[in-house]
Amino acid sequence: MKRIGILTSGGDAPGMNAAIRSATRTALYHGLSVVGIYRGYQGLIEGDMFEMSSRSVGDIIQRAGTMLRSARSPEFTTSEGQKKGVWHLEARGIEGLIVIGGDGTLKGAQALSNLGVPTVGIPATVDNDIGCTDYALGFDTATNTAVDAITKIRDTASSHGRNNIIEVMGRDTGHLALVSGLAGGAEYILIPEKPFDIHDICDGIKKGYARGKTHSIIVVAEGVGGYSAPDESPYDSVGFKIGQEVREHTGLETRVTVLGYIQRGGSPTVKDRLLGTMFGSKAVDALIQGETGKIVGTLGEEFLMFDIEEVVATRKPINEDLYRVASLLSGM
Ligand code: F6P
Repeated sequence: MKRIGILTSGGDAPGMNAAIRSATRTALYHGLSVVGIYRGYQGLIEGDMFEMSSRSVGDIIQRAGTMLRSARSPEFTTSEGQKKGVWHLEARGIEGLIVIGGDGTLKGAQALSNLGVPTVGIPATVDNDIGCTDYALGFDTATNTAVDAITKIRDTASSHGRNNIIEVMGRDTGHLALVSGLAGGAEYILIPEKPFDIHDICDGIKKGYARGKTHSIIVVAEGVGGYSAPDESPYDSVGFKIGQEVREHTGLETRVTVLGYIQRGGSPTVKDRLLGTMFGSKAVDALIQGETGKIVGTLGEEFLMFDIEEVVATRKPINEDLYRVASLLSGM
């Protein structure tokens, strides 16, 4: 292998730049040339690419977002779109590809690999819902951002004796809500994976106040069931609907904060920089060793390769042990 391409696709995630930097420099170290592909699969379809050097990736490890920019490309889900992408790769002499992103991005990697393009994926999404791997890039930074916000809201919540609803990201999964809710000391955590009864929660809140609690914090994942999905109705957030119900059923002052895109920005944590650096380097190693249709992941302290088929077929289940403790502590 003499020449590889790198792209980032879908929702950005802190740590993507660390992965781009590390993959680029590892490839250059091994004598490969590197092509950066702008705007994910859409840029691939349009041939929007440039030659990368070690300097192209200077001064980015500390930044969230992606220097390669990102996009969601409906066209690339079609076989015509994928063929256009393969054509541009061949025209540029790109023999292997590293794609960085979430679920949809890794499905694109699977398609390319099935079309004969050696492709390795790097999981990156603040939702952390990718199967097989303990962590996807961005999750650690996003949970830290959410906990910082919960901590600040808690200060004012207890001064005023209010209910505070804090909506965090998680279109289909509650990993971010569960971890940030537990670490932020939320009274209740609502996630798409687990049904809940709003009346039970409101009763628990009232009992808590009767016992002398000075506030209650409910962390809600944006995709909890029974309410509209965020991409169907991005201006109609679930946090406000739950807030309204909680206010009606408890009769208490209730405030709502939607954290939104703040969770996708901010300087990546040490963990996300390190994961990005290791994922990027391992992805290049895998391509050099002739691997394709794989993703890099981490289990415990180890970095491993997983079959992309298995990864895209599995959605990461929530950690039942964390949920058990969250339920046990709720309303206490
Ligand atoms: O990256 C995943 C995610 O953060 C979801 O939790 C959220 O619903 C979605 O991205 C929104 O992203 P965008 O508005 O950029 O499509």
